[in-house]
Amino acid sequence: MSRQSASAYDPLTILLHWLIAAIILGQIVLGFVMTRPSIDPALQFSLFQWHKSFGMLVLVLAALRLLHSLIRVRVAPAPGASRLEYMAARFVHAALLALALVVPFAGWMIASVSPLNIPTFAFNLVVVPDLPFAKSDFAEDVWTTVHTVLAYTMLALVLLHSGAALYHHYRRHDGVLQRMLRLRRSPAETPVTEVPTKEL
Ligand code: HEM
Ligand code: HEM
Repeated sequence: MSRQSASAYDPLTILLHWLIAAIILGQIVLGFVMTRPSIDPALQFSLFQWHKSFGMLVLVLAALRLLHSLIRVRVAPAPGASRLEYMAARFVHAALLALALVVPFAGWMIASVSPLNIPTFAFNLVVVPDLPFAKSDFAEDVWTTVHTVLAYTMLALVLLHSGAALYHHYRRHDGVLQRMLRLRRSPAETPVTEVPTKEL
């Protein structure tokens, strides 16, 4: 199916991209630190609540990002990219967006099925309700494993994705990083073209 595409991202896509990216990276560091066995229990409780709060925020922002990506004008492939490179980039972008939804959902499942019954106070403002699933140690262990494995898989993909962005910037000089930073000179330089592709 052919759909109109531009060579620049719209401001909402850029805002959501960098906001979600920054929170996710912070979440991975926070998740790692808060689960160290030597940590003070009071501090650990507080860090868990911040982790759960920012995690729920990522879930909301990523859902918004997904909805927005279905209606916005698509962005053309990076200039000079081969079909294989384009498909690889599309796959990694789709996987990152999917993980930005699935990782926090799995975290919400841990909090929901844990027999410890610790409420999630999102930013000390609202209590996030538990999802309606049976509580058990086994279910908690399974979702903890899913959450942990997918969170670190996401970190690996983010490193790959960031490496590709830096490669485009420093080796290819093709403006791919600039267009996600909105460093372009004028709207006249962002022609609208037709590309026979479907993007997330
Ligand atoms: C958790 C972190 C991140 C996530 C989930 C993420 C996700 C995504 C997604 C889904 C897209 C596709 C955008 C679209 O076409 O609508 C994208 C594009 C992009 N990202 Fe990220 N990203 C992350 C971190 C980063 C970082 C750290 C950098 C830079 C070092 C970066 C640079 C870029 C660039 C330059 C593009 C545009 C690629 C193009 O125009 O073809 N991203 N990112
Ligand atoms: C994008 C969002 C999120 C990311 C990237 C993330 C990442 C992580 C990471 C890296 C860990 C540490 C795993 C380890 O080393 O053992 C962790 C643990 C944890 N996360 Fe998240 N998380 C996110 C969202 C959430 C949400 C929304 C919740 C709950 C509402 C949550 C609840 C937990 C819990 C309870 C643990 C501790 C599991 C254990 O007992 O080992 N996370 N998370």
